[in-house]
Order: sequence, then structure tokens, then C-alpha cells
Amino acid sequence: MKVTIVGAGAVGASCAEYIAIKNFASEVVLLDIKEGVAEGKAMDLLQTASLNGFDTKIVGSTNDYSKTADSHIAVVTSGIPRKPGMTREELIGINAGIVKDVVSNLIKHSPDVIVIVVSNPMDTMTYLTHKATGLPKNRIIGMGGALDSARFKYRLSEALGCPASDVDGMVIGGHSDTGMVPLTRLAVRNSVPVTKFLSEERLTQVAEDTKVGGATLTKLLGTSAWYAPGAAVSALVQAIACDQKKMFPCSALLDGEYGLSDICIGVPVILGKDGIEKIVEIELSDAEKAKLKESAEGVKKVNALLQA
Ligand code: 2OP
Repeated sequence: MKVTIVGAGAVGASCAEYIAIKNFASEVVLLDIKEGVAEGKAMDLLQTASLNGFDTKIVGSTNDYSKTADSHIAVVTSGIPRKPGMTREELIGINAGIVKDVVSNLIKHSPDVIVIVVSNPMDTMTYLTHKATGLPKNRIIGMGGALDSARFKYRLSEALGCPASDVDGMVIGGHSDTGMVPLTRLAVRNSVPVTKFLSEERLTQVAEDTKVGGATLTKLLGTSAWYAPGAAVSALVQAIACDQKKMFPCSALLDGEYGLSDICIGVPVILGKDGIEKIVEIELSDAEKAKLKESAEGVKKVNALLQA
């Protein structure tokens, strides 16, 4: 199983490390445009192999896409990250051109590849990837909801005073500071609805803190986060590589599901060897439906900038 990660920045390198340590891929190719960075990070990671007990082959490449040939899965993290005070949407001007160039190079060498888009604004970059490549829609996945759900579970565990492994919850909608829809109604603490433990006011705060989870970290770090984004995308890679049939909220191209079409936005999907194997339509409350519709309107506004 060969996995390519384009962009050897903090997110891409963290993703490579998690994939290597999980030891399910035979080869990880880390590619960057900046001379030597991917090769350096690949070598540094390989020097942890005897310590972390993995056999994954890690190859670094400075913009040589021939090294990515015959990849099963490709993760696109390239582009600029946001700075404090910026929205993800403000990155579109620069990142759209980068993502378009990256994905066309990737499919030139790996025509059967499954692409996972991380670059922001992620829902729009995922939509752009569909338009630019024409790949079957099950083979283009946007990673945002898996990360937002991990932050949701962190905030829930904080509010409940319990380990994050004891809670489950999902965030759907756009991967944006205002468009996320944390499904507090459905969140559970070991199968018991969290509404049994937390007041509506506290749950509202959990949802609001989740929505700005990325911005909160960007303010602290001076740049975008990388550990949780890297871990989230490595979980999607593993679900595909190991044909796990796991359900994650991912940005998927909709064609009528949830009453939405011609848009990529976070909805529950089953991930397996073929990428998005099923889009799962769950029952939403009227309030959740309204929030998802509003979120979709926001994503479509950003998509419209691609034509501009
Ligand atoms: C985040 O939310 C980078 O969009 C990513 O941290």
C-alpha cells in the first residue's frame, strides 16, 4: 500500500509520522516544492524506525512526482496555512492554484489514486479537485469533519471531566469557523446521551468552542495546528488502506443527499478500499437541517470565488 503526502509542512509530516508508526502502509512518499525539506523530514522520520518499531519505507522528494507513481492514496496538504485572525476562506486565492497543479500531477502518475484533500478552504478545494480531475466522486474525500469531531470530543471530555475515549460525537457541515454543525443532540458518553450530564447552555459552549477550535490554536501557535489535523487525515488513510468500512464525517460531493447538490460538505460517509463507499443520510432535527443548509450556503459562496 503506497501513500503519497504532498506538502511536507507540519500537517503533512505529522500525517506521515502517524502512518509510519501505525505500520499499515508499505511506503509513504513525502513531497514538497521546497528544496530538501521532504528528503530531510523523511530521513528524520526513518531514524525513528528502530525506536518506534515500524518498517514503513519513507521517501522524500523535492517536487519529483515520478516518485509518487502508483500511489493508492494521496493526501494534499499543500498551500499556505492561515495566520492569526485569518479565516480559512481567505487562503483561496493562493491555494486554489496550488491544489489544481498538485492534483493534476498526482493523477498523471497514479491514475487510480484516491485523493484526500486537507488544504484550505477545504470544502472548496475538494470541490475544485472534482472539477479539475473528473475522478469518480467516491475517490475524492475532504478531511475536515474528522478533525472537527476530534475537537468536539475533546471539548465534551473537558466539560464532562472524562477521557475523550469515553465520548463520541460528530461534526457535520462546512469546515469553517461559522459553518460547522456539532451534533450535540446525538453525542454520547459511553452510549448515554451527553444531554443527561450537561446543560443546554454548557453544550452550546462546547459547540461554539468546537467551531473555533482551529482559530483558537492558530492564535496560540501563530499558524495552523498540525498534530490533530495530521492524526485525523491518517485515520482516513488507514480506513481506506485497511478497508475498515469506518464512518467519518468527510467532505463529499453531494447529488441530492441532505437536499444538497453540486457541493462538497461534511456528511457521514463509510470509508473503505474504494474511498467513499456510502454517504449515510442520518435523521436531522429541523434545527440541524437549518444549520446544515446555512452552512452549505456559506460553502457555495466560497465555491463561487473559483469562477471569479
Ligand atoms: C484546522 O482546523 C488546518 O483547517 C485545519 O486546524
